[in-house]
Amino acid sequence: MASSSWEEFFAVHLPPPDYEDNRSLLKEFCERHEQYGNKIVLVTSGGTTVPLEHNTVRFVDNFSAGTRGSASAEYFLEHGYAVIFMHRQKSLEPFTRHFSGQKLLDMLDIQERGPNTTITVKPDSVDVLAPILLRYKAAHAAGAILHVSFTTVSDYFWLLRAACECLAYLGPRAMLYLAAAVSDFYIPKDKVPTHKMQSASGPPVIQLHLVPKMLAPLVNLWVPTAYVVSFKLETDENLLIPKARLALEKYKHKMVVANLLQSRHHRVILVSPESTQELVLTREEVHAGVDIESAIVAEIVRLHSDHLSLMGESFSPPRSPR
Ligand code: PMT
Repeated sequence: MASSSWEEFFAVHLPPPDYEDNRSLLKEFCERHEQYGNKIVLVTSGGTTVPLEHNTVRFVDNFSAGTRGSASAEYFLEHGYAVIFMHRQKSLEPFTRHFSGQKLLDMLDIQERGPNTTITVKPDSVDVLAPILLRYKAAHAAGAILHVSFTTVSDYFWLLRAACECLAYLGPRAMLYLAAAVSDFYIPKDKVPTHKMQSASGPPVIQLHLVPKMLAPLVNLWVPTAYVVSFKLETDENLLIPKARLALEKYKHKMVVANLLQSRHHRVILVSPESTQELVLTREEVHAGVDIESAIVAEIVRLHSDHLSLMGESFSPPRSPR
C-alpha cells in the first residue's frame, strides 16, 4: 500500500490536545538556550502506538522501553548539551530509569511511629542514590532538560515538527538524535472506528497503511542545517549496514546508528557517509552495568564538535540561562 505524503498526514491528523502547551514550552526552552549560545539536542525515545479505535481501548505497539533514549539524554547533559527529551508517555526517563520496578522501594527503610513515621534511605543505598540525585537536581536547577511526551504516531510527528520549528534557529548547534521506535504502519483516520470493536461482530480485518517517512521533510525542510542522527533497527544482520547506507544516501543526513534488536544493548554501528565504526561492550562491561550509550554519545558529540569547527561556529561552554 503506497504511503500518503507527509503534508497529507498532517492535514488529516489533528494535533494532540496538549500541542499548544508543548509548543510554548519548546519555544521558551530553545530561545533561552539559543540566547546563551548553547547546543541543544532533541532526543526522541520509546515506541509510538497506532490506535485501533478513536476511543482507544486497543492499539498496535512495539517493544521499545526507551532504554536507549533515556540513558543517552543523561550523557548529553554530561557533555554540556541542553536536552529536549521527547518520550513515549510512561516509558523510561533520564535519572528515574535507574529505579524502575521495585528498585527504589528496596532502597528505603520505614520506621512506623504513627504520625511521626519516618522514611530513610538505607545506608548502603546512599552511594547509589546520591550521585544520580545530584545530577538530576543539577540538570533541573540549570533548566537544562525539557520533557515532552507523546503516545500515538500522529502525536509524535506533531511534536517532532514543533520541536524542529524551534530548533531551526540554532542552525548546526542543534542536534536531532532520533532513537524512538516510530511505527512504519498505521490505520488512516477515516478507517478507525469510533468505539471499542465488538467481538460479537467477528474477527476484525485490519489493513495497515504505510506511514510517510518524516526524515525526508525533516532533513530537507524543517531543520536543514541541524546535525541529524537517525537510527536503524533490523533483526537480520545482512540488512543492517546496507539499509543504514541507503538511508544516508536517501536523506543526506549526518549519521545512522545501526543496531540489531537482539544485541542492541551491547553493540551498535555508527555509519556516516565517510566511515563505519562498531562500538561493542565487553562481557565484563555488560556485567558491570556500563551503558553503551555513554560510548555512542561521546563519539557523536566528538563528531558534532568537529562539524561545528568545520562550519566555523564558535561554541563556548554552556552557561546557565539564569
Ligand atoms: O528503547 P530501547 O529498547 O532501548 O531500543 C532502542 C531502539 C532499538 C528503539 C533504538 O536504538 C532504535 O533503533 N530506534 C529506531 C528504530 C526505528 O524506528 O528504526 P526504523 O528502521 O524503523 O526507522 C529508521 C529511522 O526512520 C528512525 O530514526 C525513525 O525516526 C525514522 N522514521 C521512521 C518511521 C517514519 N514513518 N518516519 C521516520 O522518519
